[in-house]
Order: sequence, then C-alpha cells, then structure tokens
Amino acid sequence: MHRVAFFEDLAPRWDEISRSGDPRMLEVLGQVPFAPQARILDLGCGTGRTVRHFLGRLGPAGRVTAVDFSPRMLEILKGSVRDPRLVCVQADVGELPEPLEGFDLVVLFDLLPHLERPREVLADLSRRLVPGGQMVLAHDVGREQLNRVHDEQGGAVRADRLPGDDLLVAWFQSAGLEIEDLQATPSTYLLRGRKSQRAVR
Ligand SMILES: C[S@@+](CC[C@H](N)C(=O)[O-])C[C@H]1O[C@@H](n2cnc3c(N)ncnc32)[C@H](O)[C@@H]1O
Repeated sequence: MHRVAFFEDLAPRWDEISRSGDPRMLEVLGQVPFAPQARILDLGCGTGRTVRHFLGRLGPAGRVTAVDFSPRMLEILKGSVRDPRLVCVQADVGELPEPLEGFDLVVLFDLLPHLERPREVLADLSRRLVPGGQMVLAHDVGREQLNRVHDEQGGAVRADRLPGDDLLVAWFQSAGLEIEDLQATPSTYLLRGRKSQRAVR
C-alpha cells in the first residue's frame, strides 16, 4: 500500500491508537525548552496531539506550523483545534514549500522511520531553522519496540526503522546541528540538536 494511503486509512483510529503513549510523549516533549513566542514546525503532526502540547506551552505570540501529507489526519486536527496561532500545511516532508523557514524549533515526533530520505530531509530542515534554533527527533516508544511495531503493522511501514544512535548523531552533525541531548530508553527516544548561533542559512 502506498504510504499516504496507509496513513489515510489509519487517521480515524490514530487518536485511539496513540493515546496510551501520551504520558511518554508529554514526558519527552516536556523536556524540550523553547520560548513562549517560539515558532515551531511540527512535522508529520497527525491528528495533533503534539500540536496541542506546544500550543499549551506557547504564549500569544507563539506559532505552530503543522505539516502532514495525509488530508484526513489534518482534517481531524483542524476539527479539534481552532487556534489563531496554528497553521496547517498539507505537504510531504521531503518536498516542503520554500517559504516554510525561520523556525526556532523543528520537531519530528514518531516520524523519522517513515521518511524515504531521512538524511536529506534533516539537512533541509536544518536550513529552515534560525541560527540557535533546535531540531528534535523523538518517540513515545523505545527503538526496539518501535521497529517491532512496524514489523507487525506490515504494509507500507513494514521496513520502517529508527536508525542507530551513531547514524542519527552523524546526520544531525552533518546538518550543522550540535547535539545537546540524547536519551534512548526502552520506552522513549529523544535526540535534540542546536544550530550554531553563527550559522548562515
Ligand atoms: C506515526 S504518525 C505520528 C503522528 C503524530 N506525530 C503523533 O505523534 O501523533 C506519522 C505521521 O506522519 C505522517 N507522515 C509520514 N510520512 C510523511 C511524509 N513524508 N510527509 C508528511 N507527513 C508524513 C503520517 O501521515 C502520520 O500522520
């Protein structure tokens, strides 16, 4: 099954499926520092559980740009969150529109294993950060369980894997990000990097 079709099919069930991971999602994202006025790019946002978390922590000047390639995921998000600080964009993370830039924080939550060219995507996303901006790659399950779940789900995500720490760290670094946090536990994953203050786009 094509990837978009796979997630379109999953969309009406995603809130229910993901709910048990919410405490771990909050535990992981709760550690990510950002200012109340931050501009956040939430990639593969799904039905919006991470969007709701960010909006809850942002002040009136903060912004969340939520991106997903599944129209049904975005429909559910738009139906449940009405907030002037939220912009929803239907797009493939591998082919983001050029004007999406100038972010303080870029987040890939439960997304990276599904990307076909993750290294290139991370390099592109780093260019969309302001100097001093942060990139966060996170999961509400540990690597082993995540890879097993994809095995069991089969279909378009059967071979989707979270690469090893060495590779992910190397991809972050080659994208110009300095590693500030890496936590790989049996039940969560967090990699956080920061673009140099002196970086030019
Ligand atoms: C496992 S779900 C996670 C959703 C959300 N981040 C969460 O934690 O609830 C993966 C999401 O990424 C989206 N997705 C997967 N590959 C994508 C791509 N290449 N471009 C845009 N969205 C993508 C899917 O449609 C789906 O909504």
